[in-house]
Amino acid sequence: MGQEDILKKLIAHCKEYGFIFPSSELYDGLSAVYDYGQHGAELKNNIKKYWWEAMTLMHENIVGLDSAIFMHPKIWEASGHVGAFNDPLIDNKDSKKRYRADVLIEEYLQKLEDKIKKEIEKARKKIGDAFDEKQFRETNQRVLSNQSKISDTKKRFVSALENDNLTEIKNIIEDAAIACPVSGSKNWTDVRQFNLMFETKLGSVSDDASKIYLRPETAQGIFVNFLNVQKTGRMKIPFGIAQIGKAFRNEIVARQFIFRMREFEQMEMQFFVKPGTEMEWYNHWKEFRLKWHKTMGMGEDNYRFHDHDKLAHYANAAADIEFKFPMGFKELEGIHSRTDFDLSRHQEFSGKKIQYFDPETNESYVPYVVETSIGLDRMFLAIISNSYTEETVTGTGEERTVMKIPSALAPVKLAVLPLTKKNDLPEKARAIIDQLKFDFACHYEEKDSIGKRYRRMDAIGTPYCVTVDHQSLEDNTVTIRYRDTMEQERVSIDQLPAIMGEKVNMKTLLQQL
Ligand code: GAP
Repeated sequence: MGQEDILKKLIAHCKEYGFIFPSSELYDGLSAVYDYGQHGAELKNNIKKYWWEAMTLMHENIVGLDSAIFMHPKIWEASGHVGAFNDPLIDNKDSKKRYRADVLIEEYLQKLEDKIKKEIEKARKKIGDAFDEKQFRETNQRVLSNQSKISDTKKRFVSALENDNLTEIKNIIEDAAIACPVSGSKNWTDVRQFNLMFETKLGSVSDDASKIYLRPETAQGIFVNFLNVQKTGRMKIPFGIAQIGKAFRNEIVARQFIFRMREFEQMEMQFFVKPGTEMEWYNHWKEFRLKWHKTMGMGEDNYRFHDHDKLAHYANAAADIEFKFPMGFKELEGIHSRTDFDLSRHQEFSGKKIQYFDPETNESYVPYVVETSIGLDRMFLAIISNSYTEETVTGTGEERTVMKIPSALAPVKLAVLPLTKKNDLPEKARAIIDQLKFDFACHYEEKDSIGKRYRRMDAIGTPYCVTVDHQSLEDNTVTIRYRDTMEQERVSIDQLPAIMGEKVNMKTLLQQL
């Protein structure tokens, strides 16, 4: 199945089973804005819980915060967002479609990389065990030519971005003969900068003084509360502040479902450290965050680090954790060493001192910051795209679609299904739910055949289904069916908490960190 097809199927599945709906669908939708349905909201909450507990409960020097979306407009001047939170955009004059110029170039570079990989794989197949990839890369003319195009373009691209040279970005697009995917033409406008922040007005007077922004990142709410938290929590450096909240960006090209949205949620943690120790902490947080991802069991090979060539205006080191989405490896989370940029700027713009007094050395300083920043919606997409499985059932040959969501994060943990609607079976089933609902998200369903009910539970990723039958009334046992293996066994109802607790409890993830 092609990448586009996988994404299309996923979008349809998410809609059909109550994970994600297009926002304002009644009015034909709103571009790049989505609503989470009954199962989507549960899955989202579980991801938040896993992140929140991993960052706060598991670290005695990290505390939480919930700051407002509206903030003083000067904050965004201080942070650099008013002046520099721009994307370079370019329009195709024939299709009238708008693109991010940097993304067009990145896609061009990726295509060249893919061509090289194909060439290597072809040669490897032909030559077999004796194939020497290093030698092939150094001698094959097509590989060498593409490699040299990549190096030249990258060099020009990084320099153009660093110098804000929009003319050069357009030159690169023209020299690389990049065509509009819609019209196929190379008839481009000039490249222009476009600020991604949404503006609105505060209060009833509509003048320039009342202009405020919807926050494009949650991080600034943490920076401006640094002293509040440090003092009231009597926090000692190094320490961190974690926050989950909405962020808004007027993305030029918002596509690929919930990968790039205009309204999304971030889970960010700012870790305040002594200047000079930031690289040690940067490496520490890179490793910890990767471990957090890998613990979910979605395949070790599906993650990789990508160190940034071009650093943001605030960073002295930055890396992405990339995940293998249906459209290839893409950024899932960023880890940034932000120096003292933000706190110093807020000190300058507010005119108030933002410093930490170190009682051990009797020194005062502006702390450095290492940040971990992950998009909740993007994490959601990583999980559902990795979990979506179409398979043929051995034995019956039947097709089933199953969401193999990591069990601890599944929206529903246990479905309790009475075999029939009669003979006290529903009452027995409800009694099981009454016993388990305090610890596990349970679902009761009595409509349709057991087979159909199992399929519906597979489609939303429920790890366990128990069927209550006549024998249950006699000996207090049920049949438990496991989502991934479809195996079934007869167990005592009293055993259910232990069987399920082992896998679906968040503790099992947290203990592995
Ligand atoms: N405070 C740093 C910061 O905001 P970023 O790399 O711009 O850094 C961090 O964003 C993360 O937020 C990204 O790795 C991504 O997961 C998520 N993100 C950013 N823009 C997004 C968008 N338009 N839609 C969904 N998620 C987004």
